[in-house]
Amino acid sequence: MNKNEIIAALNPDSDPADLYALADKVRREQVGDGVHLRGLIEFSNYCRRRCYYCGIRAGNAKVRRYRLSPAQILDCARTAVRLKYQTVVMQSGEDPHYGPRELAAVVEKVKTETGLAITLSVGEYSAEEYRLLRAAGADRFLLRFETSDRRLFSMLKPDSDYDRRFACLARLKDAGFQVGSGVMAGLPGQSLESMADDILLFKKLDLDMVGIGPFIASPETPMAGADCGTLDAALRMVALTRIVTKNTHIPATTAMGTLDPRGRQKALGCGANVLMPNISPMENRADYSLYPGKICTGEQPEQCAGCVDAMLASLGRQRAEGFGHSLKRA
Ligand code: 5AD
Ligand code: FES
Repeated sequence: MNKNEIIAALNPDSDPADLYALADKVRREQVGDGVHLRGLIEFSNYCRRRCYYCGIRAGNAKVRRYRLSPAQILDCARTAVRLKYQTVVMQSGEDPHYGPRELAAVVEKVKTETGLAITLSVGEYSAEEYRLLRAAGADRFLLRFETSDRRLFSMLKPDSDYDRRFACLARLKDAGFQVGSGVMAGLPGQSLESMADDILLFKKLDLDMVGIGPFIASPETPMAGADCGTLDAALRMVALTRIVTKNTHIPATTAMGTLDPRGRQKALGCGANVLMPNISPMENRADYSLYPGKICTGEQPEQCAGCVDAMLASLGRQRAEGFGHSLKRA
């Protein structure tokens, strides 16, 4: 698909039925009916950055900050094993107390004890630090670039830098990680053209995973009260990303489930092949408040596991076999 065709398909006035049907077909041919479950551990909501959209940005005094101990993180990983998930995603803000050295020690423990595939989502570090984390046993890394629009990026991320963000993605690839990135859909000031550029960039970067969620305005941030993205926009982006990038792993995201109780089901029907059920301790979940209304804050890990299995069954899908590593460089 060329850029003009992508822009036309993103237009909210066009009927998305054919787009979704094609994306579903491409998904089935490229990655099959299996859905990979990745257990999400939100291990710290401390963050040194002040991204305008994010509820846990530095300086938000309304957030109750928490940081799981290495033992607690290991406990979450044991829960993942018990629930027969094959991957844990360890995500946090950019917490200076969990720098690469501390984190590497935890990764090594989790890997040695559980043998699970490990995905990190912890932000921007140096090439050397990424190599340390890779050597400790982490397999994959998620770092969304959030938007391909340079101007919008600099407005949203006051203490980040557009070129450095992409340099980090290159470092991760060089360090031997399977690399995921992604964006938010429906950011204020985001044009259809820039969303088309996002999708073409996913392809150009040859990403292993691509995560897309609707922007949801967070109170206590500079973007409080802004218009949120729509599920429709996020679903169109998922569908187009599937068609354009073919065999990437694409999650049905929590933000989609937050905007619409059937949001994740809809994403699985138009290109997505991954779910990331939460396995963080219940008492901390509500505090990992990137945006309001986040689902699963009242559920135990077992309940989310039951919920996602029922969801898959209702869609005629099933858990995928194996670790669900990248399909690009097998
Ligand atoms: N709405 C939607 N998604 C958000 N994220 C952060 N804040 C918000 C928000 N207000 C997403 C970002 C980040 C991921 C972990 O969560 O894309 O990369
Ligand atoms: Fe958590 Fe459905 S996945 S309740």
